[in-house]
Formats: sequence, structure tokens, C-alpha cells
Amino acid sequence: MSGDFSHAVVNSLLVVSLAAMLTGCQQGNATGTDNLSGDAKQGADLVRNYGCGGCHTIPGIAGADGNVGPPLNRVGTRTYIAGFLHNSPDNMAFWIENPQKVLPGSAMPQMGISAAEARDIAAFLSTLK
Ligand code: HEC
Repeated sequence: MSGDFSHAVVNSLLVVSLAAMLTGCQQGNATGTDNLSGDAKQGADLVRNYGCGGCHTIPGIAGADGNVGPPLNRVGTRTYIAGFLHNSPDNMAFWIENPQKVLPGSAMPQMGISAAEARDIAAFLSTLK
């Protein structure tokens, strides 16, 4: 049990430093401030297309009434993603792209979402308050 716990702590530290490295890269390559935030409208379409609503209840998405994961109403103001990753735009995009790296064994699958798509989805989720 305590072994599992320290494993989780090491993983979360790894994720935080990976997220910091990612942020550094993206800032270095940014062609404009728009690069740092996604398109919320596009994000809503992606949420529909990827079928996130099969597992999550999501306001504004028709038929999104799943109950496998937590409801995403007010996720834009939630403090932690999946209970431990600080809820920032970068971390949200990182989670959506890599749930199995953040929390190996989580019921949320890797869905082949690109970094750019994850940014758009994170922008949409940040509007849910
Ligand atoms: C197969 C089911 C499944 C699918 C599909 C799925 N999720 Fe999840 N999701 C989960 C589960 C389970 C969790 C809870 C993870 C945890 O806390 O350990 C979760 C957690 C989350 C969280 C964190 C919520 C919180 O309160 O901490 C967000 C945000 C999220 N999912 C967004 C999405 C988006 C966006 C999609 C579509 C691209 C998606 N999910 C697709 C199962 C799913």
C-alpha cells in the first residue's frame, strides 16, 4: 500500500516536470499568443467527435450523459484534475492527451488526441463554470 503511494507521488512529480518542459517547448516555438490557448468552439466539436460524453456528463453537449468518469460541469473552476494535477490550461491539455501517462491504469483511455486538439478541448472545458 505505501509502495503504491510513493509510486503515485513519483509519477505526479514526473508529470509536473514533463508538463513544465512541454510548456517551455511550446513557448519557444510559439508563433503568437494564440498558440498558448485553444479554440473553445473547435474543442466542443472535438468533444462530440471523440465521444467523451459516453463516459462524462458534459453541459452543452447533446447526449453527453455518461457516468463512468466525473461530471464535467464546473470543471473549469475545479482545483485539481483527477484529484491531484493542478488545473491549469497546460495541465488540462496534457491530461486529455495523456491520461495513461498521468494516471496509469485510469479508466480514461489514450484516445490518440493530438496536442493541438487537446488545447482546443481544454479551452472548451475551461468555459464550464
Ligand atoms: C472510457 C471512459 C472515458 C472516456 C471516453 C473519457 N473519459 Fe475523461 N475520465 C474518465 C475517468 C474514469 C476519469 C476519472 C479519472 C480519475 O480521477 O482517476 C476521467 C477524468 C476526466 C477529467 C478530470 C475530471 C476531474 O474532475 O478531475 C477530465 C477533464 C476528462 N476526463 C475529460 C475527458 C474528455 C475531454 C474526454 C474526451 C476527449 C474524456 N474525458 C473521455 C473516463 C473517460
